[in-house]
Amino acid sequence: MGDCGRNRCHPYLPVHLSAPTIDTVHAPALRRLSVPAQRRFTFVAALTQAGIAVTGAVVRVTGSGLGCPTWPQCFPGSLVPTGTTSVPAYEQAIEFSNRMLTYVVTIAAVAALLVVLGAGRRRQLKRYAWSLPLGTVVQAVLGGFTVLTGLVWWTVALHLLVSTVLVWLAVQLHVGVAQPDAPRAHTVVAGPLRGLLAFATVTMSALLVAGTLVTAAGPHAGNAKTTRLNVSIPALAQLHADLLVGYLGLLVGLYFALRATAGPAAVLRQWWVLMAVVLAQGSVGVVQYFTGVPEVLVAVHVAGACAVTAAMATLWARTRVRVAMSEVAGLVAEAAGRTRTPGRALSPSGGRDSRPSSCEAQVAR
Ligand code: HEM
Repeated sequence: MGDCGRNRCHPYLPVHLSAPTIDTVHAPALRRLSVPAQRRFTFVAALTQAGIAVTGAVVRVTGSGLGCPTWPQCFPGSLVPTGTTSVPAYEQAIEFSNRMLTYVVTIAAVAALLVVLGAGRRRQLKRYAWSLPLGTVVQAVLGGFTVLTGLVWWTVALHLLVSTVLVWLAVQLHVGVAQPDAPRAHTVVAGPLRGLLAFATVTMSALLVAGTLVTAAGPHAGNAKTTRLNVSIPALAQLHADLLVGYLGLLVGLYFALRATAGPAAVLRQWWVLMAVVLAQGSVGVVQYFTGVPEVLVAVHVAGACAVTAAMATLWARTRVRVAMSEVAGLVAEAAGRTRTPGRALSPSGGRDSRPSSCEAQVAR
């Protein structure tokens, strides 16, 4: 460790890997930011991406979706509410406040980008960092499109789904900045488990899409005059719940596969976090379904959807790590200790043999 001369780069990063690039920020204040500071900035960026999805749900359940009936202006000829009585004042205030939050989200995203560029982090992190402000611009335009189409259901659904994608990317960035900019990432679970995790992620995405379809058919359109998706709500809710059962099944299978292959403690810990969040979210879903989708629970359910996405994104990110050369010896010893524990599988490949785990083999290379 300590290859960095002046605080310009990650403390574990060899100097030859941290040469300034074309997209490196040269502001001295940003160059000084430590990895914990980078973690804080990226955390705020992730939180604001999830936060605006929740406030968007508040706009919808309060029926304020057309509180500002035009876009980008609030009313024709005015960027702010005009005090007109044609639209209730509270609807104008709620929709306008939500539009203002776009600036908060943008500032958080741009700050995270500048911090990552300023620290001269690896290219993958820069890509994640760029995706946040760019994605926020896409969301602003999509939000405008939603208003201009009178809140037609598929624009509302798309708007929420893009938010969950941005939450996913922000979490990849947040977890990623904590890892050194070593040139190679190592998969710390048995290879096929990444495939299982990817399949579970696809199932979770289908679950999110199905949720937006339930909403599209449900009572909370965002405006009383908006046309709804003309499909039976119980049928869509059934599809939504069935996908949850499938998703839970994949997660349970993943748990036993991780145990059988002596998966790393950090991955197992994150699995438990994810499971707790998914079960809580499922409970909220069941309660809201049987209590006539009360407004508060709808907003909580959207927050839960973002939390599930974030927990899953963290699990995904924890299955591939970058390590500084100084940490390699410790990790190999830890992995060897895990595989020697009596009564447990001896290698992440599941076999009770003395071959090195995939992680050990890659790290040792
Ligand atoms: C991990 C589990 C779950 C996730 C990730 C999830 C996710 C979602 C999402 C993303 C939406 C769309 C929200 C919006 O467009 O504003 C939604 C809506 C909904 N979900 Fe879930 N859901 C889960 C479990 C459940 C369960 C078990 C039920 C019970 C049947 C349920 C019932 C509903 C209902 C009724 C809506 C429509 C609410 C409305 O009208 O706005 N959800 N869900």
